[in-house]
Amino acid sequence: MASAVSEILSNPDGLENLEKEDICRLLLSEGGDRDLLFSCADRTRELHVGNDVHLRGIIEFSNHCVKNCFYCGLRRENDKLERYRMTIDEIIDAAREGVGAGLKTIVLQSGEDPFFTADMLARLIGRLKDEHDIAVTMSVGDRSREDYALMRDAGADRYLLKHETADPELFSRLRPGTTLDGRIRRLELLKELGFQVGPGSMVGLPWQTVDSLADDILLLKRLDVEMAGMGPFIPHAHTPLAGCTGGGVEMTLKMLAVARMMLPFTHFPATTALASIDPEGRQRALKSGANVVMPNITPVRYKKLYEIYPNKICIAEEGATECLPCITGIIRQSGRTVATDYGHGKKPVSRESSP
Ligand code: SAM
Ligand code: SF4
Ligand code: FES
Repeated sequence: MASAVSEILSNPDGLENLEKEDICRLLLSEGGDRDLLFSCADRTRELHVGNDVHLRGIIEFSNHCVKNCFYCGLRRENDKLERYRMTIDEIIDAAREGVGAGLKTIVLQSGEDPFFTADMLARLIGRLKDEHDIAVTMSVGDRSREDYALMRDAGADRYLLKHETADPELFSRLRPGTTLDGRIRRLELLKELGFQVGPGSMVGLPWQTVDSLADDILLLKRLDVEMAGMGPFIPHAHTPLAGCTGGGVEMTLKMLAVARMMLPFTHFPATTALASIDPEGRQRALKSGANVVMPNITPVRYKKLYEIYPNKICIAEEGATECLPCITGIIRQSGRTVATDYGHGKKPVSRESSP
């Protein structure tokens, strides 16, 4: 007799518009049903975004943060962390090395650090866009409309701002002083300004339910996003969530697989967090719907200080000379190809000057 899961998966026309009840069933699948889910997602990925894997080189340019998120090692009350800021020239040099090694997208990420004003960031983006034929992605957290507009006008193409969890109470509990509504408004604002946006969530947060995980995927669907990152929550010893159980590999992969089926053209990374809890994490994600990998090209002397969570991979290796060849090896061994284009979202970009 066919299982409920195989029945859901046997209707390819319905997969983009799954009801919440069916999403929950898929997220709870085990054994053969779960394997069927992964292979279905892999097929959807191949049909809609092909075999190419896009590389996004990430530069973590400051670990200062004014926020106090319960899950994150960069939170302002973590006084055990040695803080750093890269200079503008160091950031430009790291980007140059990454682009020289073949990267077409540079991601600039940091804690929420007001030291880097929007003017400074806009000038930095302008220099990167002048010097290289690349896409620039920003990931610097909550800023004003004016700040986002300055970054966009300077040439930034994309913005990563995870919604973290679609449960409004849990969101405010874990991110003191902020609301899920506020975050969704920011994502909509970024879209209005012409950014390709990338929300996403953590899997396995304390107090999170399967029901709210299904809501995470439905929110991505509602926002019709170009990119989305789904990674496991990994508890950090110097945060209020020390001692909590972290997210699991299987549930993270199931979230990725269902999201891929519901948003077939969206770019989904095989996250560093997943690879940090499972040495085969990236390979498994690439077989369950992922089509992006984000090599860390932050200079090694800073990498270990960007400790969002413990046991992060690739902190001892130089990005351009060690991680990049390692990652391209993983991609090729997975039977996939390394993309040579910018890897923009499927929707047209509104700025004419964007590559
Ligand atoms: N400060 C910016 C922001 O919050 O959007 C960007 C940097 S923040 C470190 C990037 C992402 O790290 C967050 O969106 C969150 O999902 C993830 N993160 C933070 N702490 C984590 C943890 N303990 N386990 C897994 N992911 C975590
Ligand atoms: Fe700061 Fe982002 Fe970490 Fe929150 S998740 S503490 S905003 S770096
Ligand atoms: Fe960084 Fe393998 S990807 S060393």
